[in-house]
Amino acid sequence: MSNLGFENTDTILMEERLFPPSPEVVERANIMAYMKSKGFDNYENFYRWSLEHREEFWNDMARELHWFQPWHTTFQWTEKPFFQWFVGGKFNIVYNCLDRHMQTATRQKVAYYWEADDGSSRTLTYEDLYVLTNRLAKALQNLGVKKGDRVAIYMPVTPELVAAMLATTRLGAIHTVVFGGFAASALEERINDARAKVLITVDTAHRGGKLIEYKKICDEALANTPTIEKVIVFKREGTEVPMQAGRDLFADELLQDIPNDTVVPCEEMDSEDLLYILYTSGSTGKPKGVVHVHGGYAVGVYATTKFVFDIKPDDIYWCTADIGWVTGHSYIVYGPLLNGATGVLFESTPQYPAPDRYWSVVEKYKVTIIYTSPTAIRGLMRFGEEWPAKHDLSSLRILGTVGEPINPEAWMWYRHNIGRDALPVMDTWWQTETGAILISPTVILPLKPGSATRPLPTIDAAVVDKDGNPVETGKGGFLIIRHPWPSMMRTIYGDPARYRTYWETIPDVYFAGDAATIDEIGYFRIQGRVDDVIKVAGHRLGSMEIESSLVSHPAVAEAAAIGKPDPVKGEHIKVFVILKAGNEPSEAMVQELKQHVRTNVGPIATPDEIEFVTALPKTRSGKIMRRVLRARELGQPLGDVTTLEA
Ligand code: WTA
Repeated sequence: MSNLGFENTDTILMEERLFPPSPEVVERANIMAYMKSKGFDNYENFYRWSLEHREEFWNDMARELHWFQPWHTTFQWTEKPFFQWFVGGKFNIVYNCLDRHMQTATRQKVAYYWEADDGSSRTLTYEDLYVLTNRLAKALQNLGVKKGDRVAIYMPVTPELVAAMLATTRLGAIHTVVFGGFAASALEERINDARAKVLITVDTAHRGGKLIEYKKICDEALANTPTIEKVIVFKREGTEVPMQAGRDLFADELLQDIPNDTVVPCEEMDSEDLLYILYTSGSTGKPKGVVHVHGGYAVGVYATTKFVFDIKPDDIYWCTADIGWVTGHSYIVYGPLLNGATGVLFESTPQYPAPDRYWSVVEKYKVTIIYTSPTAIRGLMRFGEEWPAKHDLSSLRILGTVGEPINPEAWMWYRHNIGRDALPVMDTWWQTETGAILISPTVILPLKPGSATRPLPTIDAAVVDKDGNPVETGKGGFLIIRHPWPSMMRTIYGDPARYRTYWETIPDVYFAGDAATIDEIGYFRIQGRVDDVIKVAGHRLGSMEIESSLVSHPAVAEAAAIGKPDPVKGEHIKVFVILKAGNEPSEAMVQELKQHVRTNVGPIATPDEIEFVTALPKTRSGKIMRRVLRARELGQPLGDVTTLEA
C-alpha cells in the first residue's frame, strides 16, 4: 500500500465552519418522515438504532418496491465473505424502473430531458422509455440474447444507452457498459473478460465538440473478441461507417418491424441474480469486473436516491456524470427511475462551448438537484463568478458532489455561487464496489466544508489502523465498513479470490482502500486512496494499466506511474520511464509515449508528466515502490508511510 494522502489533515482539522440545515427543509425531508415513523427526530439516535435494526430498515426499504415473490431471509452469510440479501425473492429491477410506473400517473411524466452535445434536446416520458426499451428487448431477443448472457455497451450518454441497459436487464441478461473515454484495447479486454455475446454502439458522436469514432474503435477491438456474435449500431450522427455483413446491424433496421405496443415481459430473476458487471481499476493487474445483483442493488440505490437527494415528485434531478461510470449507473439510470423521478441526461462537458454550459442547462430545464464532481467545480471556478451569475439558478434546492475529496475552497465556492449561500451540499462518499452512497449528509444534518459527514443508516463505518483498531479522533487511518449492506458488490467476475482480498486486508471487515479521519463531532473526512489507484478528474485508473501500456511501447524497458496532486483534477498522472538501450530521452519521445497511452488505454489515461530515469526504487522481490517515488516527488519524508505498507 502506498500514497497515504494524509497531507491535508491539518487544514481540514482547522475547518470549524458548520452550516445548520434549514428548519423547513428538515421538516419536509424524506429521511425525517422515515425517522418519525420509527419514533426519532434526531439523526444520531436514529443511526444508532439502525445499526441494531439493520434488517428492519432494509425490509422497510425493499417493501416500497415490487417483488414478483417476497424474500424469506433478509440477510445471510453463505461462506464468508460471500453473503446474500433478500434471499428467496423474485424481482426485476426494470419492472420497478418502468412497468410499475405504467399503472400510475408517472406514465406520462418526463423520465429524461436529454441535452445533446450541440445543445439540442429531446424529451422522453416514462411511457416513451418503456416503449423503446421493450422494442429493443425484442430485437435483442430476436438475436438470441437470453437470461445470463453478457451484452457490452459502448455509447455516448443518450436515451438509447439507457434503453440498451434496461432492455438487456429486462431479459435477465447482464450489461457491461464501457466508458467512451476508453480506447479499443481497453474495450477489447472488458468484452473478453465478460465473454460478451453482443455489443451495442453508435456510428460516431461528439463530446465537448470532439469527434469520438465509436464504431471504428469497436472494429479495432472486435478483431480480437471471439465471443461477440452481433454488433448493434445506433445512428447517432448518421455518419457512414463500415458494417461487416452478418455481424453488424443498424438498430433502426432491427427496430422498424417491431411495433410500439410490443411488450417483452420482465424475466423474473432471483434477488441474487447478476444485474451488471462494471469494470474498475485496482492496485494491481487488469481491471476487475465488479458484479452487482438485482435485488439488493435496487433497494440500495432506491433508498439512497430518496434520502440523500431527498427526491420529491416535482424535482428535476441532474447528475452530470457519464453513464460509463458507476455514478451514472446508480444515480442517472437506476436510482432516479426507481424513484419515478425526472432526470436530465447530459451528453456534453462542463466547459463546452463555454464555461457556463452547466448553468445554462440548470436554467433551461429548471433543475432542482445537481450532482457533479469536485473537478468540474474547480475547473469552473477558474473562469470566475460571472459565468454562473449570467443564469437564473433559483430552481436549485440541493447540490451534490462525488468521486474525489472536495477541498473546502471548492465547497464554499459551490455553495456561495451556485447555492446562493443557502443550499445544502451533499458530499457523497462511495465506490464502484459499494454500489450506492454509504457516507454522506442528508438534508437534515449540519454541514462542514470538505466533510462527507456521517455514515448513512445501518452503515457501520470506522477509521482504523492496520490491525483494525480505531484511531484517535482527528488521526488518519483506513476507512472500513464492518457489515455488508444490500447494494454491495457480490464478487469480482470470474475471480472470487480477488473479491476476498477486500475482506482479508483487515480480517472480516470491508477494506475500502481510502484514508480518512473522524473529527470530534463524528464527521468523516475522506482523504484519498491508500493504494495505487489514481483518481484523475474523478476518473478511476490504476498505476498498472498505465505502466503496462507504456512497456508495450518498443522503446520502453520499465515504467512507474503515480498520481500527483493537481489543483483542478485532484490528481494527475506522472510516469517515470526507463528507456531501452539505443533510445534517447527527447521531447519527441515524450509526445510519442503520451500518444501511445492515449490510443492504448484512452484519452483519460494520458500522462501529464513523463520523466526519464535510469533506475526505479524496488523492493527486494522486484516490486516497484511507487510510494517512494511519490514521497520523493512531493518532498515528503517516508517515515509514517512505511509502517502502513501492506
Ligand atoms: C473516491 C465513484 C472523497 C474514493 C463513486 C473512492 C471520494 C473512489 C468521494 C471510488 C468523496 C468517491 N470524497 N473521495 N465524496 N467519493 N471518492 O469506484 O477514493 O470511481 O475510493 O466510485 O473515489 O471511485 P469509483
